[in-house]
Amino acid sequence: MTFFYSVFPSMFPLLFVLLLSFSGATSAHTHEDFLQCLRLQSKYSASISKLVYTPIKSSYFDVLQFSIQNRRFNTTITPKPLVIVTPSNVSHVQAAVICSQKHGMHIRVRSGGHDYEGLSYVSVLPFVIIDLINLGSVSVDATSNTAWVEAGANLGKVYYSIAQKSGTSGFPAGTCPTVGIGGHISGGGYGTLLRKYGLAADNVIDAQLIDVNGRILDRASMGEDLFWAIRGGGGNTFGIVVAWKLNLVPVPDTVTVFTVEKTLEQYATQLVDRWQCVADKLHEDLFIRVILERVNSSSQPGKTTIRAAFNSLFLGKVDSLLPLMQESFPELGLVKEDCTEMSWIESVLYFAGFSRNTSLEILLNRTQPSVRFFKAKSDYVKEPMPKVALEGLWKRLFQLEMGSGQLIFSPYGGRMSEISESSVPFPHRAGNLYQIQHLAYWDEEGIKESRRHISWIRRLYSFVTPYVSKNPRLAYINYRDLDIGVNNLQGNTSYKQASIWGIKYFKINFDKLVHVKTQVDPANFFRNEQSIPPLSCGIIN
Ligand SMILES: Cc1cc2nc3c(=O)[nH]c(=O)nc-3n(C[C@H](O)[C@H](O)[C@H](O)COP(=O)(O)OP(=O)(O)OC[C@H]3O[C@@H](n4cnc5c(N)ncnc54)[C@H](O)[C@@H]3O)c2cc1C
Ligand SMILES: *[C@@H]1O[C@H](CO)[C@@H](O)[C@H](O)[C@H]1NC(C)=O
Ligand SMILES: *[C@@H]1O[C@H](CO)[C@@H](O)[C@H](O)[C@H]1NC(C)=O
Ligand SMILES: *[C@@H]1O[C@H](CO)[C@@H](O)[C@H](O)[C@H]1NC(C)=O
Ligand SMILES: *[C@@H]1O[C@H](CO)[C@@H](O)[C@H](O)[C@H]1NC(C)=O
Ligand SMILES: *[C@@H]1O[C@H](CO)[C@@H](O)[C@H](O)[C@H]1NC(C)=O
Ligand SMILES: *[C@@H]1O[C@H](CO)[C@@H](O)[C@H](O)[C@H]1NC(C)=O
Repeated sequence: MTFFYSVFPSMFPLLFVLLLSFSGATSAHTHEDFLQCLRLQSKYSASISKLVYTPIKSSYFDVLQFSIQNRRFNTTITPKPLVIVTPSNVSHVQAAVICSQKHGMHIRVRSGGHDYEGLSYVSVLPFVIIDLINLGSVSVDATSNTAWVEAGANLGKVYYSIAQKSGTSGFPAGTCPTVGIGGHISGGGYGTLLRKYGLAADNVIDAQLIDVNGRILDRASMGEDLFWAIRGGGGNTFGIVVAWKLNLVPVPDTVTVFTVEKTLEQYATQLVDRWQCVADKLHEDLFIRVILERVNSSSQPGKTTIRAAFNSLFLGKVDSLLPLMQESFPELGLVKEDCTEMSWIESVLYFAGFSRNTSLEILLNRTQPSVRFFKAKSDYVKEPMPKVALEGLWKRLFQLEMGSGQLIFSPYGGRMSEISESSVPFPHRAGNLYQIQHLAYWDEEGIKESRRHISWIRRLYSFVTPYVSKNPRLAYINYRDLDIGVNNLQGNTSYKQASIWGIKYFKINFDKLVHVKTQVDPANFFRNEQSIPPLSCGIIN
């Protein structure tokens, strides 16, 4: 312990109090051994000690809180890690895995911290966070149109780095620039380019993974099954991804964006109804999602209404877009004045909610402008919902105060329907019209407020049951939802228990994921509340 004490000798007495309150006496011993082990891993790096944070370091809370993206898990009662390690070299990740293994420490891996249930930085077991925030370099090769991206990079940095090298390359990942590429691809990852190019995970061609024994593996040495599993089978399950090799995709030098807003008085219901029938069949260069929320009515002062925002990216110029819209979705009444031509990288800013003149460097900023409390759920829609369902959804949006409830309908079809269900673990392909994300947000602290909003979203989810996918009712793992089933953290979750949530996220791919997990991590070292369990002794229990 001397090493760490030398930093803050005056905090010596505080240590015991903290260790006891953070972990209990037994694990304090284990975590001491863990720290000692890290220091001894000098063959990995002499410098790792500077990258280790325990509660006695004044910066511990800053490091912990920096990547918390949901205020639900930023409270005084949220369980805190015994140690945070922030590797700046792959060898540090190896050391951290080896020492956690050796001393039985439970670990959580964090890249961008956007896990909806906080699983990358919260655990009820005493635990260590391996936070990849210092492993975020991006190296773009414009000749081969590929990039090696370290797992701690945020999506904004990936897009920014690509645009620096080429005005006609892009990457089909999510719209929020602060999301970490490590967790994102581990669950699939989609954005405005999904109808043209599929998911982020569909465009990964190699990876560097630290396995349960602390070895560095690449695609060739890990083999195709493990390489398959890490592209969407869920984070913190098969190892720690330290880098992905991405296949960049072509984008035109001019793209067009629009957002057309319609309220109920402007026939939003009819337009959403129509959208359901066309959105997945549009030209694959055209992506139109719908964002639904309650807003003040401009025509009737003092009243509120539901607004549907048709939010779109078209891979081409406005002169090509207008005839396409006239042919496929004339009801929206799109006109040239609704549209803005820009470069693809500017469209990244647009979808992230920044104004056009914002400097591109904002994409490097890892701090979300407003972090709120939230709870979300996802659904897949295979047949257009009847009007009564849409109206029921609006009714539920009216039940909450403004700004608290949101629905996002994201169209599928195009490339998504061409990729087979088992190409990567993400199974939601042909046959899906669109995905729904249900969201509840709030800003007030306290259990009562949390309960109110969480119970609202659970009722909404229950209401929509007859109109969405069933047997199984499907869900997107990157919109993690612990309501749909959890593992026990002792590490002995049965196949049957895990299949409750596993089939919803992965359908038929769940079995193959279990098989791969059993091969590469039979003792279930990498685990969380929704990680694939290994089969014990090959028995399906
Ligand atoms: C504001 C916001 C916007 C979003 N927008 C989109 C979107 O447009 N499209 C979309 O598809 N999703 C979106 N998401 C969901 C997002 O893709 C997932 O939450 C994703 O898992 C986040 O990755 P992360 O690295 O930021 O999160 P983390 O919380 O760091 O990680 C998520 C999970 O992966 C594990 N993990 C993290 N890094 C690694 C690694 N290197 N190796 C192995 N396991 C790892 C963690 O332990 C955790 O279980 C959004 C989320 C938020 C909060
Ligand atoms: C988390 O809580 C701390 C302390 O209350 C606060 O300073 C910080 O801004 C919060 N962060 C987020 C993301 O809510
Ligand atoms: C990482 O550590 C290895 C092994 O100690 C060393 O060879 C390499 O130079 C280090 N890389 C960086 C970027 O520091
Ligand atoms: C909506 O209207 C109310 C009062 O009618 C006002 O207090 C509130 O700020 C408005 N909200 C928005 C988002 O305009
Ligand atoms: C961008 O333009 C808007 C008006 O269009 C202005 O309000 C804002 O200050 C500008 N922002 C920057 C960063 O220049
Ligand atoms: C990053 O964004 C946050 C939130 O919008 C802002 O407060 C902060 O000043 C920004 N940091 C930099 C370096 O621009
Ligand atoms: C898992 O292990 C714990 C503790 O050893 C035990 O209490 C629990 O019953 C086990 N659960 C299963 C499903 O075997």
